[in-house]
This record gives sequence, C-alpha cells and structure tokens, in this order.
Amino acid sequence: MKELKVSAINKGTVIDHIPAGRGLKVLEILNLPKDSTILVAVNVRSGKLGRKDIIKVEGKILNEEEVNKIALIAPSATVNIIENWEVVEKRKVEIPNEITGIIKCANPNCITHYEEVTPKFKVVSREPLKLKCHYCERTMEEDTVLKHLL
Ligand code: CTP
Ligand code: ZN
Repeated sequence: MKELKVSAINKGTVIDHIPAGRGLKVLEILNLPKDSTILVAVNVRSGKLGRKDIIKVEGKILNEEEVNKIALIAPSATVNIIENWEVVEKRKVEIPNEITGIIKCANPNCITHYEEVTPKFKVVSREPLKLKCHYCERTMEEDTVLKHLL
C-alpha cells in the first residue's frame, strides 16, 4: 500500500503515538525555543484502525522533565531519541508528581484566578487521574483537567 511518510531525522527527539488531534496542543506545552526545527504530522494512520499525531524535534534531545509535561494530554506517547538516524532510546511519558502551569484550577474562586501565581497541582492519583490544587485544594478528575488546559 502506498503511504505518505514523514521524513526520518538524523538526530533529535520523536514524540510518537500522540492521540490524534492533540499534537498541536502538545507542541504548545513543550514550549520549544522559537528557532527549533520541528516536523509535525497530524492524523497519521497508525495500526489497523487508529490515527495518531507525531512531533519530531530536530537536533535536540529533550530531557524527561520537558517531555513529561505532555503526559496529561498524551499519556500514550512514546519518546524516541534519535542519533545517527537510529532510535537509541525509547521511553513512555510519565505523569510527574506535581504539575506547574499547563492547566488552570476548576474552582472559580481560587486565588490563581485573581493573583499572578502560576497554577500548581499535586498528582494524587494517576489511574484514574486526580489532581489537587496547591492553593485551594480543589480536586480535579481527568475530564475536568482536559477542559482546563491553559
Ligand atoms: N524515526 C525518525 N527518524 C529516524 C528513526 C525513527 O523520525 N531516524 C521515527 C519513526 O518514524 C517513528 C519513531 O521514530 O515515528 C519510532 O521509530 P521506530 O522505533 O523505528 O518505529 P516503531 O517500531 O514503529 O515504533 P513503536 O514500536 O514505538 O510503534
Ligand atoms: Zn485552586
């Protein structure tokens, strides 16, 4: 079968298996330097039925902390480190213990909506996802979290 292929890269980081439609959000969260060379593919055929998004960052090896920021919106993502055209490392993203920025608190009365403070959450549970606001202690579950992405 003929297939549209996204170019391989020589060196860098490939974030693969991002749920289809979330690639651009992931890119935003990664907050990469403006001069980065990036390839983004959306709605790429994956396996028999599914679709996925892929992000390739050329020339830059992203560290775990940078990549784990995307875990909330792309828990299925695989991170591939590429050197000399070869995958030299493959990792899964992991939800960190604490989330800073990225999402806003669901409590409209929370101080984070009135003061210049960066929202901060403690991860109380990963499966199912449960976050607790550091400031007002409001607990948010997965569906609420996804509706409150900054
Ligand atoms: N890739 C790339 N440049 C390379 C090598 C690999 O952009 N020089 C990309 C591939 O296109 C793929 C990802 O890195 O999106 C992982 O590559 P590989 O492990 O070879 O693919 P799969 O075996 O399909 O990965 P998985 O098992 O994670 O689905
Ligand atoms: Zn709050």
